[in-house]
Amino acid sequence: MPIGVFDSGIGGLTIVKEIRRLLPKEDILYFGDTARLPYGSKSPELIRRYALEDAHFLYERKVKIIVVACHSASSWALSEIKRSFPVPVVGVLEPGTKAALAASKRKKIGVIGTKATISSGAYERVLREKDKEVEIVAKATPLLVPLVEEDFLTHPVTKIVCREYLKVFLTEGVDVLLLGCTHYPLLRSVISEVLKGKVKVIDAGKETAKEVKRIIEERGMKKSSGRGKLKIYLSDITPEFEKIAQVFLGEKPEVILRASLREITHNGKRKVLNFQLDKEKKYGII
Ligand code: DGL
Repeated sequence: MPIGVFDSGIGGLTIVKEIRRLLPKEDILYFGDTARLPYGSKSPELIRRYALEDAHFLYERKVKIIVVACHSASSWALSEIKRSFPVPVVGVLEPGTKAALAASKRKKIGVIGTKATISSGAYERVLREKDKEVEIVAKATPLLVPLVEEDFLTHPVTKIVCREYLKVFLTEGVDVLLLGCTHYPLLRSVISEVLKGKVKVIDAGKETAKEVKRIIEERGMKKSSGRGKLKIYLSDITPEFEKIAQVFLGEKPEVILRASLREITHNGKRKVLNFQLDKEKKYGII
């Protein structure tokens, strides 16, 4: 059975990259809800609904574990997803906060993420559950997502934006900054440069991949032979997808399929959205 990973779009491929590095034999099924992104500026109700539908899409395809790569979805919907599906569910908050606390000597931690992630207070809550004394400086940094998608990874504009967003962490004297968004690992070098090497940068996604490995090994669910295949399902295939996906994944994606959204009737009454696969069309197969 494959590992299931979902995100609001293609940013979650940064986590897939790490999982593939740590567990090269595992098959991965990725779902990116490109038709409905971004999640980071949506209401909690909508994020919850979308996240449950995304998780359901993976569960129906018999994944052995569900990884909620999207920080906005992890912040608002993780407990509901855990309650709804009888497979292990891993979000990004637990692994990221654990690593941040371990790295912080001053117990003063910065967190950046989308508006939805920061307004949820989820990172603060999980950090405080682990350490009551910890001081937290949280800031929404929404412009960073489009800058990454524009491939402005080292562009002067990105440096200016980062300087503006991140100066508070220098004045507040945090010693660790937690990257609470799928896209931010790609800006790691600019972020470190702007923070003048005074702040350790923790990538929550990378820590999540380690947690996935730990769970899979602990439960004896590891695949022991062959090279792992990656299958990518997207709810919309944009012309630029392949180019952007390569930036996130670090390699050319093998199989990309479209999972279109369809409205269906459930139990004869309630209308729910479901995903239907576009059977004939496969995109970008090498
Ligand atoms: N994947 C989202 C997150 O990590 C960022 C992109 C979006 O807003 O949908 O929060």
